[in-house]
Amino acid sequence: MKVLLPEMVDSIGISYLEDRGYEVVLGSGIDEDSICRDIVDADALLIRSLCVTKRIIDSGKKLKVIARHGVGLELIDVEYATKKNIWVCNAPLSNSNAVAEYTIGIILELVRKSRLMQEGMVQGDMNIGRRELGMELEGRVLAVLGLGRIGARVSQIAYYGFGMKVIAYDPFADREAVPEYIELIPSLDKAVMDTDIITLHMPLLESTKGIISASVLEEVKQGAYLINVARGGVIDYSALIASLKSGRLAGCALDVFDGVEKSDLDTLLGMRNVIITPHSAALTDKAIEKMALHSAISIDSALSGERPKWAVNAIVM
Ligand code: 3PG
Repeated sequence: MKVLLPEMVDSIGISYLEDRGYEVVLGSGIDEDSICRDIVDADALLIRSLCVTKRIIDSGKKLKVIARHGVGLELIDVEYATKKNIWVCNAPLSNSNAVAEYTIGIILELVRKSRLMQEGMVQGDMNIGRRELGMELEGRVLAVLGLGRIGARVSQIAYYGFGMKVIAYDPFADREAVPEYIELIPSLDKAVMDTDIITLHMPLLESTKGIISASVLEEVKQGAYLINVARGGVIDYSALIASLKSGRLAGCALDVFDGVEKSDLDTLLGMRNVIITPHSAALTDKAIEKMALHSAISIDSALSGERPKWAVNAIVM
C-alpha cells in the first residue's frame, strides 16, 4: 500500500512504515495540483503544513487515512473526510512538552529583554541593562488561555518552577481535572485584566478566530506581555500592533503566522519589543521523532483495519 508524503518528516516515521511493507512516496510538490496528481493511488496521506481541501480528498480515490504531523487540524477538511469514511488523525502526545518548554523560554527572553540587550552590546552599550530593567516572574500572574496539554504543562512549569500565580480561561476545561493551583476565570476579558503575561494555547476554531481582539487588548494590564504559540488566526493584528506601539503591551512573542498580512508581519519584525520565530516551537530533536512516529502508527493502524488511537473523527466513524 502507498503512503504519500509531500513534506519530509523524520526518518523514524518513514522506517516504521517501510518496515511494515508500505511504499512511502515523496510526492512532486506541495501545491494543490501536485497533491491531487500524486494522491490518486495513495492509501494514506501524511501532512505537516499543507491544506487538505475537498479537491485533494476527492482525488484520493483509494484514500483511507490522513495523518497530521502535529496537533492542529485547521488545515484539514475533517468534516468532508469523515463523510467519505476517511480517518483523520493527529499526534496529540508528540510535541506538547516541546511547545511548553519553548513558551517558558520565550517568556524569559521577552521579560529579560534579551533582544534589546544584544542590540545594545552590538552598539557598544554595556549599560543598557541598567536602563532597560527585566521583570522577575516569581509572584507574577500568568494567564493561560487554552488549558489543553500544552497550556497545562506551561502552567505546571510556571507554578512549580517560578512560583507564578497561574490563572486560566478555557470554556471547554474539565473543572474536576484542573489542578488546584490554577484558578479558572469565567471570561476572557477578566483573565487578561490584571495579568502580567498572557500565553495563548487554544486551537483555531470559528469561535477563536480573532478572539484576541481590539476590545480584549484594551482590557490588558499596562505593561503586560503576550505570547502566541497557538495559531496566528486567533489575533487581530492591527489591534496588536496598536497595543505594542502605545506601550500597553510591553512586548510579545509570536511563533505562528497563519492569517497574518505580510505588511503586519513586516511591521512586527521591525519592532524591538517583539520576538518572532518561524513556527519552530514544536521543532525539537524528540518532538520531530514523536510527530513522525505517531503519524506513522496511525497510518499503519488505519490501513490494518484497526481504529487508530489518535483518530479525531473516531466518534463518527
Ligand atoms: C510541524 O512542523 O509539522 C509542526 O510544527 C507541527 O505543528 P502543530 O503541532 O503546531 O500543529
